[in-house]
Amino acid sequence: MSELAFVKLGGSVITDKTRAETARPEVIRRLAREMASAMAADPGLGLVLGHGSGSFGHIAAQRHGTRGGVRGTDSWRGFAEVATIAARLNRTVVDAFHDAGIPVWSLQPSASAHCDGGELESMALEPVTKALKHGLVPVLYGDVALDASQGGTIISTEQIFVYLARYLEPDRIILVGTVDGVFDGDPLRDPSARQIPEISAANWASVEALLGGSHGTDVTGGMLAKVADMVDLVRQSPGLEVQVISGEQEGALRTVLERSTEVRAGTVIRW
Ligand code: IPE
Repeated sequence: MSELAFVKLGGSVITDKTRAETARPEVIRRLAREMASAMAADPGLGLVLGHGSGSFGHIAAQRHGTRGGVRGTDSWRGFAEVATIAARLNRTVVDAFHDAGIPVWSLQPSASAHCDGGELESMALEPVTKALKHGLVPVLYGDVALDASQGGTIISTEQIFVYLARYLEPDRIILVGTVDGVFDGDPLRDPSARQIPEISAANWASVEALLGGSHGTDVTGGMLAKVADMVDLVRQSPGLEVQVISGEQEGALRTVLERSTEVRAGTVIRW
């Protein structure tokens, strides 16, 4: 393997976050084509694909309060419903990537994940490592999970990536969202918000103070939580680079995966 990259397709880019259970099939298909061409350009590229839940899991999880714990019959029924809805989006993503010629293998995180107080403590590694060994692309996604102290919870794709990164030591993590990186304000509401090209030890304290919540319904903490998780990870993993890019920008995922400079995209987080 020449390089190992984890790629997350954010729920914001693969779904319409303002409309319940609405996927964006053309965007998903284009991102699949971009990944397929990067894989053709570098057959040694190892990939783990993850995706968020957007208007699928988040709306259902908020309705049932699943992130905060699962107690009682209705709450457990809600837990199962969130899992079903999250898996529905997974099927759409996996079908599109399969159709683009990518050897994807969908792995259901909640089948093996164990949390405690919302923290992901363990999940099955063997299917992921064997998939990589045999040239497959394992696919994981934000899902429900059992939790030792609160019955159940929700785990984000970032939590899954942080857990896997400890064992798999990826070279890069690429987070694909709807905005071109991390901004010093909300670029969708404030046209004067500026992109932060790099986040490192030098500016993290000031960046942390600037970041607010994200759009729509997000039970796993919005932009600040996602960036803070990645900062914790790069601090512990010298050499790891995290890139936050926009999936709306055609060619951004492909050029970032190919390390080409054709499209200058996003924010890099490195320590
Ligand atoms: C959320 O996963 C999972 C559920 C709500 C079931 P993520 O945190 O990875 O998803 P997005 O990218 O915010 O949609």
